Amino acid sequence: MQEHNQPPAACAAREPRAGQTPGRVPAGAEAEPAAALERMRARSAAHRAAAGAPPRAYVLTFGCQQNEADSERLAGMAEAMGYELCGRPDEADLIVVNTCAIREHAEKRALSTVGQYKHLKARRPGLIVAVCGCMPSQPHRLEELKRRYPYVDLAFGTASVGRFPQLLDERLARGRRLFVPPEEQPPMSEGCPVRRSSSYRAWVSVMYGCNNFCSYCIVPYVRGRERSRSREAILDEVRGLVQSGYRDITLLGQNVNSYGRDAGAGCGFPALLAELDRIPGDYLLRFMTSHPKDASRELVNVMASSAHVAHQFHLPLQSGSDEILRRMNRRYTAAQYLETVAYMRERMPDLTLSSDIIVGFPGETEADFEATLEMLRRVRFDLLYSFIYSPRKGTPAAGMQGQIPRAVQQERFDRLLALQKQIGQERNDALLGRPLRVLCDGVSKANPALYSGRTEGNKIAFFEGSPADVGQFVTFEADRADAFALYGHKTEPGT
Ligand code: 5AD
Ligand code: SF4
Repeated sequence: MQEHNQPPAACAAREPRAGQTPGRVPAGAEAEPAAALERMRARSAAHRAAAGAPPRAYVLTFGCQQNEADSERLAGMAEAMGYELCGRPDEADLIVVNTCAIREHAEKRALSTVGQYKHLKARRPGLIVAVCGCMPSQPHRLEELKRRYPYVDLAFGTASVGRFPQLLDERLARGRRLFVPPEEQPPMSEGCPVRRSSSYRAWVSVMYGCNNFCSYCIVPYVRGRERSRSREAILDEVRGLVQSGYRDITLLGQNVNSYGRDAGAGCGFPALLAELDRIPGDYLLRFMTSHPKDASRELVNVMASSAHVAHQFHLPLQSGSDEILRRMNRRYTAAQYLETVAYMRERMPDLTLSSDIIVGFPGETEADFEATLEMLRRVRFDLLYSFIYSPRKGTPAAGMQGQIPRAVQQERFDRLLALQKQIGQERNDALLGRPLRVLCDGVSKANPALYSGRTEGNKIAFFEGSPADVGQFVTFEADRADAFALYGHKTEPGT
């Protein structure tokens, strides 16, 4: 979970047109963006005049990096509307919960958090509670929020994030709750204000949506079809970030390898990456996520010969069994996956490789699961994100025969984790005593005596640091490792 409560780093808020006053928007007729923004600013000014302080907004994020990036836009838009961001829901006049729907557990957590706001709303009837993101992109969840959560004022899906000021304006002008039905093909909004939560790490969305329809996955239903941003818009954004001192820039998309396949982008992903790499400066470029069926040699070649692209790849395998991969609609085999990894490691021997695995997919036999374990032994991932299969309403896999009992899923999950722990330990031990470049994040939350940061391979590193290191690259050497992190000391380059 992420909260937006750090100081602003960049906010390109557009100025509203002068000479307009807040007015009434007829129900159903959504306001024009600039006029809506201006009415919201006037409301905030009126609040400030009456209360002696601006209204406050609290933005809470569940889920993936794409959601974090969306929340940075929501926070940016809230500021552009005249809200001050705050770090606690009980201090807020506006609460925005950006939700995730990837697994049932994520939805339950979001709903239970929203449930806690009932009491806040009872104490402060003026509070506006908005729920957005992947959960309300599903018609049945939107309906549930409407019926079972009467204190939710506004709900809208991922497609409507860029229209937040208009929707909030409409909600306030109507004086009635507003539940926005999901859009088929949402427009792409450029030029949205962004309030980044870090001053040295940044997310840059290069595309939205997914066309792959893996049989277990809700994403294509809640984020719509693939839409690529224009090459120029991405180049401008990354150039601006590098000039402002950003050191670690992650390009985001559900399947970045598909970048540019739809009309209008101007180039494919390898060409985009090569062009971004030419921006001068001291920074790292990363990207996620790639689909193994599309991770081309051309992309690997660009990475291997680049100046700024981190030698790190997140390549979700999902299963090591060809039969399960077929039923998942993944469109590659275990052998093809191994071939891709072999080429990556040939071109980048220092590559850090991570993956996603789903355990207990419908019909998974013990032999299928063994095939997954065997892939772990052969590939030797640095880091693994493992998930127990969670049926998602409306996806083909949810209706498949052979749903696996929870106890079997859990037992396989535990075995997977135990094997990966051993492999992760060995992979990290291999880095002991080698100089590594680490971008320092500051004092560790887990151990306040130490500073923490990320290596180029995105591994967590702990060391004795100083405030001057924060947001800077330091040279680091690990003395000790566990399966998930490196522990060591800073070294001077060359020592
Ligand atoms: N159940 C479990 N895990 C899932 N993922 C996606 N959908 C599901 C699901 N229904 C996992 C996949 C994906 C990651 C982001 O989440 O491994 O790569
Ligand atoms: Fe989901 Fe597959 Fe698309 Fe990834 S590629 S978002 S797993 S449908």
